[in-house]
Order: sequence, then structure tokens, then C-alpha cells
Amino acid sequence: MVNNQLSTTLQAIQDYAVAYHVPIMENQGIGELIELLKVQQPEKILEIGAAIGFSAIKMTEALPTSTVDTVERDDSRYQKALEFIAQSGFGERIRIFHADALELSLDVLKPEYDAIFIDAAKGQYERFFDKYEALLAKGGIIYCDNMAMHGLSDIPLSEVPRRKRTMIRNLATFKEHMLNDPRYDTELLSSGDGIMICRKK
Ligand SMILES: C[S@@+](CC[C@H](N)C(=O)[O-])C[C@H]1O[C@@H](n2cnc3c(N)ncnc32)[C@H](O)[C@@H]1O
Repeated sequence: MVNNQLSTTLQAIQDYAVAYHVPIMENQGIGELIELLKVQQPEKILEIGAAIGFSAIKMTEALPTSTVDTVERDDSRYQKALEFIAQSGFGERIRIFHADALELSLDVLKPEYDAIFIDAAKGQYERFFDKYEALLAKGGIIYCDNMAMHGLSDIPLSEVPRRKRTMIRNLATFKEHMLNDPRYDTELLSSGDGIMICRKK
């Protein structure tokens, strides 16, 4: 019964995302992230960029003892995420905050997270990282999605559409910083749309 309700909710989320052009993770990307999380077994997860709750619900489903806190700034997506999270039956394990993650007070969150998943505005990844690493437990991991930017990060900047250049430049700078940051072991995986894994030493 619960599983039926959950799969109905997940299908409804995917249908809604298609109908209203909400960018949620594709099955392959979320599948790969979940495999990584299953190895890590984080107890407390923080997500930046909930959209309508898809990845938060999938992570909660895959990790039965974990809790997820997630942040979404868009009003209608936040409202929809609330509905879907309630429908999924995981309302007790997922908290969603309606806020711009760059403005949210850290005081309302938990003092420490084992895993932080960044999946919000791509041009701002370094700012999210710099803010939220304060909440990362020692040995914890920050996962960043879309590092390949659907192939755009591999082509000369002059061939990238102008409106996306700053975002691509910012992502490349962030990647470089992380690969050279001695406080983290950083790995870039080509899976999905490119996941960067930064483990705090
Ligand atoms: C790619 S979607 C997230 C998809 C979601 N993780 C999933 O797979 O189900 C990115 C979301 O981040 C939100 N976002 C972007 N910048 C944000 C910010 N500064 N604070 C909070 N949310 C933000 C957007 O409104 C958007 O809904």
C-alpha cells in the first residue's frame, strides 16, 4: 500500500515536471547519486534545490534511516514539493525550507550534515559550497550535480551560448578550486550529467 502510494507520487512528480517544465534529475543521474549515498550511508542529508521534491523523496526512499532537509526558493515549486512530500508518506523525514539558500540562516538547519547535495543555480555553486561547508561533518561529502552542464563544459567558451558563459566560467573556476583544495578529496565522475564529490578530510 505504502509502496503503491510512493510509486504513484513519484510518477505524478515526473508527469508534473514534464508538463510544467520543472528540471528534476533524470533516472540515471538520481540512480547514480543514490548508489554513492548507499555506500556512504549518511544519516543527515542537506539538499540545495528541491524543485518539487523528486530527489529528496528518492534519497529518503533509498536510505531508510536518513533524514533530508531541502531548500527551494521558487514559490510554486515549494508548494508543490510540500504536497508531493506529504503524499509520499515521508513527511516525517523530509523538511523543506522555502528560502533563497544564499539568504537562509544556518541556525534553522541542523548543526551538522553527513552529506550535502548541491543542485540549484549552476552559476552559484561556489557560493553555496562556501556557505554550507560550515555545516559539513568531518569525513562528510558534498555532492555537486550537473558539473558537465550537458556537454557545455567541454566545448570552447566561444561556442557556448552567450547567456550561459558566466555560468560555465563559474563552474569551471569552482571545479578548479575544489581539485586544488587540500582540505577536500575531490573526484569528478562522468556519470549522469557529471557529479563532483568533495570529501572533507
Ligand atoms: C535542478 S532543480 C532541482 C531538482 C531537484 N534536486 C530534483 O532532482 O528533484 C534546481 C532548483 O533549485 C532552485 N534554486 C536555484 N537557486 C536557488 C537558491 N539560491 N536557493 C534555493 N533554491 C534555488 C530552483 O528554483 C530549482 O527549482
